[in-house]
Amino acid sequence: MTINKVMVIGAGQMGAGIAQVFAQSGLQVMLNDLKQEALDKGLAGIEKRLKRAMEKGKMTEEDQQSTLQNLSGSTALEDASDCDFVIEAVVENMDVKEKVFKSLDEITPSHAILATNTSSLPITEIAAATSRPSQVIGMHFMNPVPVMKLVEIIRAIQTSDETYQAIEDLAKKLEKTPVEVEDFPGFVSNRILMPMINEAIYTVHEGVATPEDVDTVMKLGMNHPMGPLTLADFIGLDTCLYIMEVLHEGFGDSKYRPCPLLRKYVKAGWLGKKSGRGFYSYE
Ligand code: CAA
Ligand code: NAD
Repeated sequence: MTINKVMVIGAGQMGAGIAQVFAQSGLQVMLNDLKQEALDKGLAGIEKRLKRAMEKGKMTEEDQQSTLQNLSGSTALEDASDCDFVIEAVVENMDVKEKVFKSLDEITPSHAILATNTSSLPITEIAAATSRPSQVIGMHFMNPVPVMKLVEIIRAIQTSDETYQAIEDLAKKLEKTPVEVEDFPGFVSNRILMPMINEAIYTVHEGVATPEDVDTVMKLGMNHPMGPLTLADFIGLDTCLYIMEVLHEGFGDSKYRPCPLLRKYVKAGWLGKKSGRGFYSYE
């Protein structure tokens, strides 16, 4: 199938990055958010990043202009009525995602593929909320989307081969490297990454070392580009907690229990970089 017109739902850090890479690859993209303020922030972030790339000589002015022309904003889901492909990057919560998919199922043309950027939630359950489960799939980008090469593609049990192939082709068009993954909690990426982050939080919680020292150990000792607590702040502590809860519930194994300190930070509204405070301060 041919994908020309795309909607990205949720203009937060992931949605804005996803919209940017789609627009850069020549597709018509509408970025959608419930809140006008979030939409404006998402679009302004894209413009800023494109301008910086141009100033660094990594993008021509012509490419910057055509990317911007491919982009538009929306605060109404009904705008997806002529889209061939919709990808959702709203909050990591099953109830919210199911509502979005039920609405999209009613609004979008019958040929449209509906994808989720969920970090951990079951794609099979999201697909079952629609009347077109064979056209539902997980397309999991990594943060920051314009930089990271990986896309995990997760099949729901109902996903058709045609849908899978269309999304693999799409990932390649975006110059990403797709990896096919079965629908299990946390897929591959977060099943491995999140327990490491959670363990780093336990290390701080138990007074073994400060956040700075934990990060230094992992950066200089293991050559990670960011320490796990800097990375947790970057991802968002709310998202980290939701993912740990999905792993804990999905596997029923106490090795995945979220650290109480992570819960406490999220309850305090200390969500990391996006809220100005997490393990570090960003004021
Ligand atoms: N958005 C877009 N681009 C960004 C960016 C952002 N937030 N932050 C940095 N960049 C770009 C910069 O513009 C720069 O691009 P150019 O080379 O084209 O100029 C490039 O990234 C390198 O940036 P910097 O030199 O400023 O910084 P750096 O070398 O420290 O790299 C980083 C920054 C790429 C984020 C690096 O620290 C890194 O790889 N961190 C780990 C990221 C990671 O693990 N991501 C996965 C998170 S888990 C996930 O996404 C799954 C999930 O479900 C939670
Ligand atoms: P975020 O909090 O930065 O952004 C979410 C955005 O969605 C907000 O702007 C919010 O206003 C909007 N929104 C909420 N409900 C909506 C609705 N019904 N309709 C339209 N917009 C709505 O979150 P994020 O970090 O971008 O994460 C989004 C999704 O991507 C989550 O499922 C998360 O698990 C996943 N993800 C996150 C990362 C990461 O590193 N943060 C990486 C990969 C995947």
